[in-house]
Amino acid sequence: MEKFVISGGKPLRGEVEISGAKNAAVAIIPATLLVEGECILENIPDIKDVNLMFDMLEALGAKVERLSSTSVKIDATKLDTYIAKKELASRMRASYYFIGALLGRFRKANVALPGGCNFGIRPIDQHQKGFEAMKCKVEIKNGCVEVEGENLQAANVYFDIVSVGATINVMLAAVLAPGTTILENAAKEPHIVDVANFLNSMGASIKGAGTDTIKIKGVEKLHGGSYEVIPDQIEAGTYMFAAAATRGNVLIKNVVTKHLEAITSKFEEMGVEIQEGDGEIRVNAENAELSKIKVKTLPYPGFPTDLQPPMVALLTTVKGTSIVTESVWDSRFQYVGELQKFGANITVNGRVAVVEGNMENLSCAEVRATDLRAGAAMLIVALATKGESTVSNIIYIDRGYANIEQKLTKLGADIKRIDD
Ligand code: EPZ
Repeated sequence: MEKFVISGGKPLRGEVEISGAKNAAVAIIPATLLVEGECILENIPDIKDVNLMFDMLEALGAKVERLSSTSVKIDATKLDTYIAKKELASRMRASYYFIGALLGRFRKANVALPGGCNFGIRPIDQHQKGFEAMKCKVEIKNGCVEVEGENLQAANVYFDIVSVGATINVMLAAVLAPGTTILENAAKEPHIVDVANFLNSMGASIKGAGTDTIKIKGVEKLHGGSYEVIPDQIEAGTYMFAAAATRGNVLIKNVVTKHLEAITSKFEEMGVEIQEGDGEIRVNAENAELSKIKVKTLPYPGFPTDLQPPMVALLTTVKGTSIVTESVWDSRFQYVGELQKFGANITVNGRVAVVEGNMENLSCAEVRATDLRAGAAMLIVALATKGESTVSNIIYIDRGYANIEQKLTKLGADIKRIDD
């Protein structure tokens, strides 16, 4: 088991290049199942979740050829089965995108119930609602989602809650379904727009992605082509938090500044200096006296839930009482016990965390990553805190952050990956 050993207390300085968006890539890779011909995907992040997606494609019979660490050629013209490999599917949450993609392709799908980060109940009832509206029969048998969609057809779907996964999954099923599917109360995250742009570039007809109403006119088939995945909003945000927590000065490159507005506006409120350029953001917190804040997570364009743990990490270094409300997930403060090992004063009551921040109360600690973004939060506190800390169970961090120790080292961090 590998762990990170961090000698913290040094401001991060320099430049960091952001990789392609994990949550776009893990949807676009299964979406290639709908394409006849070769797809070349560029700016794919080199992370564990993406590699698992490739393994799933190959297990279905698709050809996957890595062209470089960030580009891949996929040809799913000939597939052997509509049944996704159970051991692979059950290992990650995003494997649910194989349901929509296989359904579109074969009019049936069999995919194990998704695994992934655990922070409360993660139902898929809204995905099911969409497929059923499209005249499919959905059953859960032996831990697998089985969908029969012989009569798959367009439908009007009104989602009861805003769900990234359900929006993309039903979009995937609708691309090759006869008629025009209308998704209402759809999620608006940048990766939803990216998946729609990928599908449109391969011949689909999707309008309205990025708004709460998406219209998908079914087409007969999709053709091959090349597509570049957008930069990762959450990875960029994570480095912004690491820069601010260490009171550093970092230029974050290869970003879409618009996607980061919820973070930059909070940073400005706290007193972190932000300079936006073309595809880059400078975060300067050198010698800054940051102020406490209140923040609430919301679907895009609100403050992203995936940056809630990094935000709490930053607030442990900021004097005063800050309040963080989680409104997307039921129990996404489970990691707080680990941050308390650094001496952080955080009290959680349901979906609200009260952080009594003070850098001087923090001391190095040995902690264990409890999920991907919680792992990032632990790294941030370790980087900000003087002394040698260790973060174990980093398999979670590797699921979503490409070359993290190399990127942090380039910023002046003292971080080593150790095999225990
Ligand atoms: C995506 O998960 C992301 N994962 C998550 O990021 C992210 O936290 C989440 O969206 C919210 O932004 C991927 O894109 C692979 P949802 P997803 O469906 O699609 C409830 C990360 O760290 N819900 O938008 O699974 C659900 O319980 C990961 O990169 C239902 O009730 O999230 C939650 O409270 C972690 N029924 C809320 O909706 C459903 O059928 C939002 O979930 C589906 C969801």
